[in-house]
Amino acid sequence: MKMFVVFVILVHVSQHASAVEVYDCDPFVLLPCDFPADELANPSVVWSRYNLNPSTVHQRQQEGDELKDQNQLYSGRTSMKTDALETGDLSLNLTKLHLSDSGSYTCTIRGFIMGRQRELRVTDVQLQVKERFPSWAKALLVLLVLGLLVSGALLVYFRQYFMSVFQVEVDSGVESVQLPCKTTVHLPKVAKVEWGDGDNKKVHVYQNGSDQPEVQDRDYRGRTEMKRNLLEPGDLSLILKYPTDSNTYTCTVYNREEHILMEKLVVLNVKDCQVEVKEGEESVQLPFRTTPDLPEDAKVMWVCYKPSYRTVHLYENRSDRPDKQHQDYKDRTEMKKDLLKTGDLSLTLKHPKETDTGTYRCRVFSKDVRREKIVELKVKGQYEAEVGVSHIRA
Ligand SMILES: *[C@@H]1O[C@H](CO)[C@@H](O)[C@H](O)[C@H]1NC(C)=O
Repeated sequence: MKMFVVFVILVHVSQHASAVEVYDCDPFVLLPCDFPADELANPSVVWSRYNLNPSTVHQRQQEGDELKDQNQLYSGRTSMKTDALETGDLSLNLTKLHLSDSGSYTCTIRGFIMGRQRELRVTDVQLQVKERFPSWAKALLVLLVLGLLVSGALLVYFRQYFMSVFQVEVDSGVESVQLPCKTTVHLPKVAKVEWGDGDNKKVHVYQNGSDQPEVQDRDYRGRTEMKRNLLEPGDLSLILKYPTDSNTYTCTVYNREEHILMEKLVVLNVKDCQVEVKEGEESVQLPFRTTPDLPEDAKVMWVCYKPSYRTVHLYENRSDRPDKQHQDYKDRTEMKKDLLKTGDLSLTLKHPKETDTGTYRCRVFSKDVRREKIVELKVKGQYEAEVGVSHIRA
């Protein structure tokens, strides 16, 4: 009878090699091993890897686990069912998996059969621990996370620039431009909206439900309008009339405690005003249009300040002052009638000459108002093209 059991054991062994695959991130793996251990007297089970020294991975005796010969690599990572020897389920539970756990595990049972000590190799289990995330993917992940952190830090650092910079570009001479500023802030919380420019000038102030023109800088008097659209109450965009130069504008929203709720930046780029004409033409116009109904006491002055400073045309006390203009421009300049009423401050320059080439500026100013515009004038000489050609030939 007992001899028969041994025979069965041997057959059993040859059929029990198995393979198990797990990922390194799995919480544990069970290496299967079944044997009716109660057939033996004083049985014990040893799980081992023969290519390790010491080779013992786990040992169970009738009194309990016996781990004094256990390989340090498996310390604290192995367990078997408490009633393993009674039930015959000798599976090994291995946790905290490493790639180096891959290999061949042998389940061996020892005991006495008919008074003789036997050692039976029950099964070999081929364990393969695979990487869920290969190292290159981990490296990629680390780079990705680093990238996100760095850009996040940059974003915080340059917040005011990144957050909401609008770029608006217009041609010189447009009637108006809209500087966008839209808020998601709950409007009843908004006590004040302040538009400022890059020179710290107050462009427009809206406080307690109305515009405050008296605090505006005179550069912007009469040139601004805050769009009030009942359908879009959060729209705090500013309409700037007759923009003449590039600048940076900020829209700042305050609550009643004067704390900033929101700030937006708008970069306005106004293209240079360039006028080109050929010498010999009857006249050329240097354009400057602004809002109508300028104050009666406003003074208008066109000057050429590059390559040298010359007064081109002066208008004050509602009349031209030819006595104050540079002799180069004598009898050659003309401005429109009713210029303060219409806001058309364009200058007509008759018989333009090559030497008129330069940078011109028109300023209109009074106690409350100041506007200016710069015009680049290029007067090409009549023979300029021919001169160029002969120069190349020579
Ligand atoms: C294996 O051991 C781990 C850790 O002790 C435990 O969480 C897990 O439930 C065990 N698995 C089995 C099937 O007993």
